[in-house]
Amino acid sequence: MTSTFVFPDTATGSALFAGETEGHFYSRISNPTLEVLETRLANLEGAEAGLATASGMGAIASTLWTLVKPGDEIITDQTLYGCTFAFMRDGLSRFGVKVRHVDLRDPENLQATISDTTRIVYFETPANPNMRLVDIAAVSSIAKQAGALTIVDNTYATPLLTRPIELGADLVVHSATKYLGGHGDLVAGAVCGPADLVQDIRLIGVKDMTGSVMAPLTAMLVMRGLKTLQLRMMRHSESGLRIANWLEQHPAVSAVHYPGLPSHPQHDLAKRQMSDFGGMIAFELADGFEAGTRMMDRLQLIQRAVSLGDAESLIQHPASMTHSTYSQEERLAHGISDGLVRMSVGLEDSKDLLTDLDMALGSDRS
Ligand SMILES: Cc1ncc(COP(=O)(O)O)c(C=O)c1O
Repeated sequence: MTSTFVFPDTATGSALFAGETEGHFYSRISNPTLEVLETRLANLEGAEAGLATASGMGAIASTLWTLVKPGDEIITDQTLYGCTFAFMRDGLSRFGVKVRHVDLRDPENLQATISDTTRIVYFETPANPNMRLVDIAAVSSIAKQAGALTIVDNTYATPLLTRPIELGADLVVHSATKYLGGHGDLVAGAVCGPADLVQDIRLIGVKDMTGSVMAPLTAMLVMRGLKTLQLRMMRHSESGLRIANWLEQHPAVSAVHYPGLPSHPQHDLAKRQMSDFGGMIAFELADGFEAGTRMMDRLQLIQRAVSLGDAESLIQHPASMTHSTYSQEERLAHGISDGLVRMSVGLEDSKDLLTDLDMALGSDRS
C-alpha cells in the first residue's frame, strides 16, 4: 500500500528513472503487490508479461493510445462492449485514427479489408452482448501476415476457457471487474502480452497518458478472486449450459445465444477454441422487448444490474443499458437487437435460478 519508494541514494534514484536499474519508485509505474498479480495473470494467459490497470476501459484505452498514431487503421468486429465502441467512435477517431467495423465471424472479411495502414485488429470473443465468436487462430494469422497486431478482449471467456495468445493473438485485455475479481466488489483491468509491448503500455499508456493504475488493495482482492477462478468458471459454465438449454425449450423464448448450444451457429468453433462455454447468455422473448422488461421486473433472485461475472446472477437490457452508446441504427447494423436480454449466470444453485426464471416467464404463457 505504498505510493512512493525511498532511494538509498540519489544515484540509485537517477538510475531507476533512466531505466538503468530495476526497482519500484512510484506506484503509477509499478508496485510490488501489483507485480505479483501481473505475473499471475501473465502465467494464466501464457504471456510474457502482464499489466494491472484501474479498470477494463483503462486497459483498453492505455493499450490503444500507446499503439496507434494518426493515419493508422483499427479493424474491429461489429460487436463490442458499448464503451469500447464509443471510445473508438468518439475518442480515437477524433485524433485521426480510422476505425473500421468488419464482421469478423468470417475471417475472409478481414482478408478482404486489411491493408498496409491496418495497425490493429481488435475483437471480443464471445462478444458482449450477442455471444458471437471470432476464430482467434484464423484472424490472428491474417493480421500477422499483414503486419498488424491482434488484440483480444478475453473478459467473457477468461484464460480458464480460452487462451488467445496461445492461439496467435499478440495482446489480451480484460475487465478484471468481472470473472477475474469474481465477487462484484471491485473495478479493475489488465493487459497481457509480449514484455516489450506491455512495457510500452505501462510507460506510455498508463504512466503518461491515462494514469489508469490499479490500487494495491484492489490487486489483493483480484488475487483472492483468482484462487477460485477455476472452481467458479466450472460452476458458471455448468449452470450456463443448463439454463441455456432450459430457455431454448421455453415457449416464451424465441432465441437463445449461447456457444455451448448445438444451435449456436459457431458451436463447432466454440468446441475448438473454448474448453467450456461460460456463464453469459443472451436471449430474446417471442413477445418482444416489453415481455422482456415484464420478465426482468418480476425476477426475485436474479438481480437487475449491469456488469457480469459476479457470484450473483445479473440480468440487463443491452439496448437501453450497456450498449446505449450505440445509436439504434448502429445497434441494428451491428447485430444487437432491441429485444436482446443479457444474463450473467452466477454461482447460485441452478435449480433456484430456473425457478426464478420460470416464475418470471410463467404468466406470459397463461
Ligand atoms: C467485454 C468488456 N470489456 C471491457 C469492459 C470494461 O471494463 P470496466 O467496466 O472494468 O472498465 C467491459 C465492461 O462491462 C466488458 O464487458
